[in-house]
Amino acid sequence: MVEIEQISSRDAIALEDKYGAHNYHPLPVVLNRGEGVYVWDVEGKKYYDFLSAYSAVNQGHCHPKIINALKEQAESLTLTSRAFYNDKLGQYEKYVTRYFGFDKVLPMNTGAEAVETAMKIARKWGYEKKGIPSNQAKIIVCENNFHGRTITIISASNDPVATENFGPFTPGIVSIKYNNIEALREALKDNNVAAFLVEPIQGEAGVFVPEDTYIKEAYQLCKDKNVLFVADEVQTGIARTGKLLAVNYFKIKPDILILGKAISGGVLPVSAVLADNEVMEVIKPGTHGSTFGGNPLACAVAMAALEVVKDENLAENADKLGKLFRASMEELKKDTELVIKVRGKGLLNAIVINDSEESSTAWDLCMALKVNGLLAKPTHGNIIRFAPPLVMNIEQMKDCISIIKNTFLNFKK
Ligand SMILES: Cc1ncc(COP(=O)(O)O)c(C=O)c1O
Repeated sequence: MVEIEQISSRDAIALEDKYGAHNYHPLPVVLNRGEGVYVWDVEGKKYYDFLSAYSAVNQGHCHPKIINALKEQAESLTLTSRAFYNDKLGQYEKYVTRYFGFDKVLPMNTGAEAVETAMKIARKWGYEKKGIPSNQAKIIVCENNFHGRTITIISASNDPVATENFGPFTPGIVSIKYNNIEALREALKDNNVAAFLVEPIQGEAGVFVPEDTYIKEAYQLCKDKNVLFVADEVQTGIARTGKLLAVNYFKIKPDILILGKAISGGVLPVSAVLADNEVMEVIKPGTHGSTFGGNPLACAVAMAALEVVKDENLAENADKLGKLFRASMEELKKDTELVIKVRGKGLLNAIVINDSEESSTAWDLCMALKVNGLLAKPTHGNIIRFAPPLVMNIEQMKDCISIIKNTFLNFKK
């Protein structure tokens, strides 16, 4: 058996540096325990988690109900593959489709896989239902999107760091400006468009919230042109923005809904693509799959995680605490020149720092927040995302607000 030693932060960071690919630039903190809104580093220091693993841990770290479901299922059956049936998948499929109001679900593992799956479904629907000529289907995406890291998905990205030297890219993707309804109207003139893939709020772009009318109008334009409206709610979904789904703000039902991250409460990689029969029926045996997609362990965990969201009214809590957070940050903005903008919905928020994208100010502020017991991370050079677990209570939020205020007001460049 491999011996796992108790090691210091410094040694843990050195190991990752030496033996792991350098595909992330983490804040220098090494965590070994989490409970609710808190995490602890290996030296025993306690922090508020204000990132929630990029909105995967909405239900809080190691939620007992989810961990019990994990343990119980792990002791009876973890994986069958889809070569055989298992007794959990059908129950989960019924549960999750009723929960979100769709006819069918296609279970996958990561967010990127679910986006890729949605793109495949959209193309197939385009040929078989809409009548787009063979190999001509197009999918419209938005500039500054983040949908994941596969070759097809980065083919939709305009971030040079994500794309440089990874070509050639997947054709059939048209990129337009986000939050610009005229750009969408123009792009939809092409009859070969199968789908419009969009984040209701652009999370990785720095929690960019579009105009209130944008998503609804975009949906309507897609309907008028027989184009699938595909919502990527991997980050915004599962109560994060103060509603179960961010699209609920606009009272629309996407043709394809993509979920990931918090659908398992951050316990396992679980993602889902939901659609009604007219769309999902293009998928036939052999056309798509994944060894782990729909495994009984994931199904048990996801049902428990989704139950927690309802039982603990996490959407309402995110809405209430989010309003308090933004109002407090607006106050802070008056007292410091460091903050130029506060934006977000529910508990998906960001502060734009008064410095250039290349500056280290946002990073240095996150380091100062860490010293003061709160973990957050810049999304872009000068934007800090604030996204705590949705199980936070009002006293904890007030405590966090005072940590953030004190840190900003005492910060020296
Ligand atoms: C909107 C959105 N889509 C897709 C993904 C990709 O998910 P994963 O990292 O699980 O592949 C992310 C990840 O941050 C995301 O924010």
